Amino acid sequence: MSNRQVVLGGGGFLGSHLCDQLLDRGDQVVCVDDFSTGRRSNVTHLHGHPGFTLVEADVSTGLPVEGPVTGVFHLASPASPPAFLARPLETLAVGSEGTRHGLELARRHGARFLLASTSEVYGEPAVHPQSESYWGNVNPVGPRSVYDEAKRFAEALTMAHHRALGTDVAIARIFNTYGPRLRPDDGRVVSNFLLQALRGEPLTVYGDGSQTRSLCYVGDEVRGLIALFDSDLTGPVNIGNPDEYTVIQLARAVVELLGSSSTIIHLALPVDDPTRRRPDITLARDALGWEPTTGLEDGLARTASALADEVGMAGPASAQGTEATTVQESEPDPMAWTTQGVQSDD
Ligand SMILES: NC(=O)c1ccc[n+]([C@@H]2O[C@H](COP(=O)([O-])OP(=O)(O)OC[C@H]3O[C@@H](n4cnc5c(N)ncnc54)[C@H](O)[C@@H]3O)[C@@H](O)[C@H]2O)c1
Repeated sequence: MSNRQVVLGGGGFLGSHLCDQLLDRGDQVVCVDDFSTGRRSNVTHLHGHPGFTLVEADVSTGLPVEGPVTGVFHLASPASPPAFLARPLETLAVGSEGTRHGLELARRHGARFLLASTSEVYGEPAVHPQSESYWGNVNPVGPRSVYDEAKRFAEALTMAHHRALGTDVAIARIFNTYGPRLRPDDGRVVSNFLLQALRGEPLTVYGDGSQTRSLCYVGDEVRGLIALFDSDLTGPVNIGNPDEYTVIQLARAVVELLGSSSTIIHLALPVDDPTRRRPDITLARDALGWEPTTGLEDGLARTASALADEVGMAGPASAQGTEATTVQESEPDPMAWTTQGVQSDD
């Protein structure tokens, strides 16, 4: 009989791509989601697939999953800052109770449990790039703590289950991921910039744009999660793309890719916005033989096409043959950066 994997949060951006890749290799998939931040449209193409089952449930209250289970992938959680700031208590619940239910399901079946943790456990990093041995620098009481600390608790609970009960576990620390099925209103840097550029609106850069992000294409990210699941590593293991760009470089790349007439404007830097993010992926390279293969330009073009289709606008193909674009930038207003916003990037 084929493997039967339970994907908590399988209706989300990353989760739905994970369902696709697992089904493609012949696994059966039970997707559990309450669609609080995910979208039914992410998995409508899987309805009718003989290996796919959808269970609508809040994993913080229990896991109504019947039948055999080979693995449990726990991706259920609000992930973008607007989403977790709007659901602070739900975010803490799914990181704690949701994780506990996932671990108990895995243990009952002798199945392997994979936690989708985050680079946010490193907080505002004092070490760069971030390797798994760095313990992080997190503000436990700031607005973002509902997410960062929920994930840190989820990691602690996962390790406690492993040590105390022998549950087979793996922890993936996911770095910023982008690709098709990102929500247009996701609020993170890639969807913000692409949507603004498609609409010809100014691209909003928080602060002076010198903060860095490392962006991993979703196909690479999910391949990494599956490689970790298939290994016998416990982790944590960083899964992300080590190519680092400043936010202003990203803004320029998007404007040029789309041949957009957008200008770039600067807004207040959000509270606890991390200034640097780059994974050290030595462990994933050495132990899993995994590394990302999709370049930024290619990944952005695929994401822009999908986003353009979704909002009914012309995507990057329409930019082909256009003259090279000159990016217009407004003067940054230094005073604006001191205002404390909260929207930021995972
Ligand atoms: N996308 C990234 O860049 C990134 C980076 C680091 C970590 N992660 C982690 O990866 C996972 C997936 O992120 P994503 O970007 O796909 O976000 P997403 O919001 O698209 O997906 C999360 C899914 O979980 C579901 N969900 C949330 N709470 C639930 C609950 N209580 N019960 C059942 N379902 C619930 C949502 O409806 C959604 O479908 C998250 O755990 C996130 O923390 C993502």
